[in-house]
Amino acid sequence: MRIVRSPAAMQRLALDWKRSGRRVGFVPTMGYLHDGHLSLVRHARGRVGDGGVVVVSIYVNPTQFAPTEDLSRYPRDWARDTRLCREEGVDVVFAPTDASMYAGRDAGRYSTHVVEEQLSRGMEGASRPTHFRGVTTVVAKLFNLVLPDLAVFGAKDWQQAAVIRRMATDLNFPVKVVVAPTRREPDGLAMSSRNAYLSPSERAQAVVLSRVLAQARAAVRSARRPLGAAVLRARLASLVSKQPDARVDYIEFFDPETLAPTARVGRGAHLALAVFVGKTRLIDNGRL
Ligand code: PAJ
Repeated sequence: MRIVRSPAAMQRLALDWKRSGRRVGFVPTMGYLHDGHLSLVRHARGRVGDGGVVVVSIYVNPTQFAPTEDLSRYPRDWARDTRLCREEGVDVVFAPTDASMYAGRDAGRYSTHVVEEQLSRGMEGASRPTHFRGVTTVVAKLFNLVLPDLAVFGAKDWQQAAVIRRMATDLNFPVKVVVAPTRREPDGLAMSSRNAYLSPSERAQAVVLSRVLAQARAAVRSARRPLGAAVLRARLASLVSKQPDARVDYIEFFDPETLAPTARVGRGAHLALAVFVGKTRLIDNGRL
């Protein structure tokens, strides 16, 4: 397994692969890898086949964190991450530095951003106004450096995957955006690097996110006609408020393709929620 630090070296390598006709599968991450990330790697491997190459990027992208967010304490474990990638048969780990990705940003000499203006407005975009601009900017840069034929994203971040797919279409990136299912802990909690922040008591309370999903699914499936979003939202929010340290940020019902909010919630609608458990903000989503 090769570790590449420099963006220029990454791009040269990718151009060599292109010239020799090798397919490139790409999994962008911020590291602190868990089985959710590794399932994306396996997906990429399965899609590019034996002659193909799989690249994982590990980069905690500063532009997608607001000044008040957890950039400096975001969990990192380089030794473990590279070991897991090696065990998973990853060909290249691309781990650039801030200085090489955003040269001169602090001095105002980095000034180009990619902005998706529709799908990124609601939900995560409403709660974290500069977040998706950072995500689309870094993913566009990574696509230009890794030149992937396909890139795999997790359904865990449903809106992110939709925004990136739209960006790739709108900006004509020759990449297929693939979305792989959410991996969960045995009790239902979606795997996330941020779960590492939770105290034992918070970890126990965090299961409420997947319970909300299960309860919404049961309600929709047992109803004879679509349910009103406001009533269902209130019922689900009261489930969250039974946990002493949990607070709802949002609970939204929407069309899984367009992300347009739905007032009547029936089978096939999508639910996404963000909940603070203590100081940690967790998200989950699923089809009802
Ligand atoms: P990160 O949170 O590290 O996630 C990297 C990828 O792993 C994303 O596509 C995410 O959806 C996926 N993922 C996370 N948890 C998962 C789970 N439980 N099951 C399946 N997939 C899961 O998302 C980012 O990083 C960044 O925004 C990034 C796209 C790398 C841009 O900086």
